[in-house]
Amino acid sequence: MRKPLVAGNWKMNGSIDSIKTLLAGIKAGLDSVSNADLAVCAPAIYIPLVQAELDGSGIGWGAQDVSIHASGAYTGEIASSMLQDYGCQYVIVGHSERRTYHKESDELVADKVEVARKAGLTPIFCIGETLEQREGGITEQVCARQIDALINKYGVEALADGVIAYEPVWAIGTGKTASPEQAQEVHAFIRGRVAAKSSEIGDKLRILYGGSMKPGNAAELMAKPDIDGGLIGGAALKAEDFLGICQAG
Ligand code: PGA
Repeated sequence: MRKPLVAGNWKMNGSIDSIKTLLAGIKAGLDSVSNADLAVCAPAIYIPLVQAELDGSGIGWGAQDVSIHASGAYTGEIASSMLQDYGCQYVIVGHSERRTYHKESDELVADKVEVARKAGLTPIFCIGETLEQREGGITEQVCARQIDALINKYGVEALADGVIAYEPVWAIGTGKTASPEQAQEVHAFIRGRVAAKSSEIGDKLRILYGGSMKPGNAAELMAKPDIDGGLIGGAALKAEDFLGICQAG
């Protein structure tokens, strides 16, 4: 059985005070969560604070992006070794906001997944279609292209013990959630695509759903056989809501 993973994607939100309050709230309610791994992915500058607050708590933490380079003249970039220095276990890679606003290509995202993995981090590899692509009937083609960019370059092993987040772009931050059936259909497709290369890796792959997941819809989404948790944006900023989703795992 795959253990669900619920990861918060804080995006560019928070302050020292709000993060301390949020993490204290999550820690206080942790006993109510029995069946999920938890993680929060913070703005990079707050990662040392998150580490100090969460060390020994059983909750994991990570970043929202990573450089493909090891070190050197790359102003503003953060290397995987730096994330490791601060105890990160996870890093979100290829989020649609980075693909859109920072023009990250499928190839660059694939390189980032591999760099993170090689460094011992668990990349949360984000894929998903836009509304236009869904309405054009090419959801599976888009997801296949994003996955294949990784597998064709680095082999299916790049997804060993891996995490993919399926995030339909039209559902992110919009309040529109994919129905459990819509999400399950794509999750099954994703698993099938990976399993065609290695049934073992496909079977172990954790596929998270992301896009307006909330306490009110998390249980029915996670009840689906191929939905193994969530990548949570807005609802991860309130301890009660984040815990409510984690309890559904
Ligand atoms: P949302 O964001 O939960 O606010 O829709 C999810 C994400 O972008 O990872």
